[in-house]
Amino acid sequence: MNIITPTADGSNTLYNETIGEHYHSKHGALQESKHVFIDAGLKFATEGKSEISILEVGFGTGLNFILSFEYCNENNIKLDYTSIEAFPLTVDVLNQTGYSEYVSSEIWNDFITSYDEALITQQTLSALCKLEIPYTTLAEFDTEKRFDVIYYDAFSVQHQPEMWTDEIIAHACSFLKPGGTFITYAITGKLKRAVKAIGFTIEKLPGAPGKREMLRAVKGM
Ligand SMILES: C[S@@+](CC[C@H](N)C(=O)[O-])C[C@H]1O[C@@H](n2cnc3c(N)ncnc32)[C@H](O)[C@@H]1O
Repeated sequence: MNIITPTADGSNTLYNETIGEHYHSKHGALQESKHVFIDAGLKFATEGKSEISILEVGFGTGLNFILSFEYCNENNIKLDYTSIEAFPLTVDVLNQTGYSEYVSSEIWNDFITSYDEALITQQTLSALCKLEIPYTTLAEFDTEKRFDVIYYDAFSVQHQPEMWTDEIIAHACSFLKPGGTFITYAITGKLKRAVKAIGFTIEKLPGAPGKREMLRAVKGM
């Protein structure tokens, strides 16, 4: 069961009763998504580029997706977005988040009307945007595709340690192109060692409010 819960910046998140954790930071869902995935991830990786492919781990409410879609739309960047989700939410729940306020009505409608089909196969939402939400676990996910960016947005290591083992991180990173960017809200010594061991260069960046630091890592060429 997921319960809609307000966060400190006025945006909502969901509380997942089974896992015992929120989908986003209690200090601000919108603020965290923008800080971590858009500002430190997407803007960094699209510098000088006109197209980008993103693999997200944990689609959830789609907040990271709609903000990415809007950014790419505004900057005329072609977006190919794949987001793995083991426990998809219903359209009803997505509509209750209030996130339609944070993007244009056109982007929100394109998202909502394509969502159910995107869980089955890739959808073309606009001339600039494709979305696919493989309905599977990260461990079972496989594809021939290689991505420019990974948004690693799993529940925290305290609540879902199996999403932060060296093996599962290496599995996720195997889908990244050489020179690709791995971005996440978290940072631990173990995570840094895991990505360094598979040839990534790491950067510690200031975290979203409520977190001192976060990790950005770039895959070796
Ligand atoms: C922190 S939330 C993601 C928040 C999301 N990016 C958003 O903007 O709403 C973690 C997500 O990972 C999903 N998840 C849990 N276990 C998973 C697994 N083994 N493989 C893929 N996704 C998983 C959860 O259902 C949840 O949607």
